[in-house]
Amino acid sequence: MAKHPTNSRRQFLKTTAAASVGAATLGSAPRVVGARTPASIKRANGPVVISSRNGMNAVERAMEVLQSGADALDAVVAGVNLVEEDPNDTSVGYGGLPNADGVVQLDAAVMHGPTARAGSVACIEQIKYPSKVAKLVLERTDHVNLVGKGAQEFAIMHGFPLENLLTERARERWVRWRENLSNRDDYLPPHEADDDSIGADYIEQQRTWGTIHCSAIDLSGNISSVTTTSGLAFKIPGRVGDSPIIGAGLYCDNEVGAAGSTGRGEANLENCASFLIVERMRAGDSPEQACLFACERIADHTRKAYLLNDKGEPDFNVKFYALNAAGEVGGAEIRGGNSQFAAANADGSFLVDMAYLYKRD
Ligand code: GLY
Repeated sequence: MAKHPTNSRRQFLKTTAAASVGAATLGSAPRVVGARTPASIKRANGPVVISSRNGMNAVERAMEVLQSGADALDAVVAGVNLVEEDPNDTSVGYGGLPNADGVVQLDAAVMHGPTARAGSVACIEQIKYPSKVAKLVLERTDHVNLVGKGAQEFAIMHGFPLENLLTERARERWVRWRENLSNRDDYLPPHEADDDSIGADYIEQQRTWGTIHCSAIDLSGNISSVTTTSGLAFKIPGRVGDSPIIGAGLYCDNEVGAAGSTGRGEANLENCASFLIVERMRAGDSPEQACLFACERIADHTRKAYLLNDKGEPDFNVKFYALNAAGEVGGAEIRGGNSQFAAANADGSFLVDMAYLYKRD
């Protein structure tokens, strides 16, 4: 399957229902909304997959699995496994950036539309495929969420090996962060003896959220979702993000559609945004409209001064991805202007523009 061919993407967009989105408003603050048309593929045309931008390989793999007649949950998990094992993606699985202590702690969740069941793991260590463990929580326990040591022991019980997930690249990033965190502690980056600017090299952008979300409709018209992540880089040990929380990092209703997120998990956790998006689609929103609504809700609820820019807008990003039962896909982010998500149907895989609430600076 060709990798995100640009001409095919145009074809993909051409097949869409023309459900353009008008200007979203929030109170009196002017909002810029990307003039985007969400991509759409009717269910009659076969399976559909949507993922975050880092999931181009994942949507292609998921589509292959779907075309063999597999269940949507098997397909999306097979898709994100490629990213979980990729050392070059520093936001997911193996190679993910560690917590403040240098330990890679992973979060993942799955939701299965036909059975309306969910499974998740949080703060799991040394297990390369947390999405597979989340699926086993769904299939082989009466619980929904396992955390930390218990999640790891459950994975070992099911035959998962313990592996070192900290790559050299991730370790070096962590050391750089730690050594430049302050000029008042005892960790020092390479420097001249008379250099008093230690700490100035600290780069906020290193603290990424990353993550991959993937949802799909299978040949039977059933919908499932997965979200998996190493979470916020250099987080406080034990921190759980939105990804493994059902209703926040993902939500799926077989009759309506599915949604998932990447970005600042704390903002999503306080707004249950994936659940909100699915409910907005149930009420008639397109996937893109529903994602924009969730962005607005987060913006409305952001009150901490250090999270706002000088215009009073959220100074962070959260991205949402949604798929409805008719096969339409859409995405939106709080701060954007040039972002895309990955999608696939029987014709190929594509990058699709995302709507946004505020233009990125
Ligand atoms: N959205 C991923 C996280 O905040 O952990």
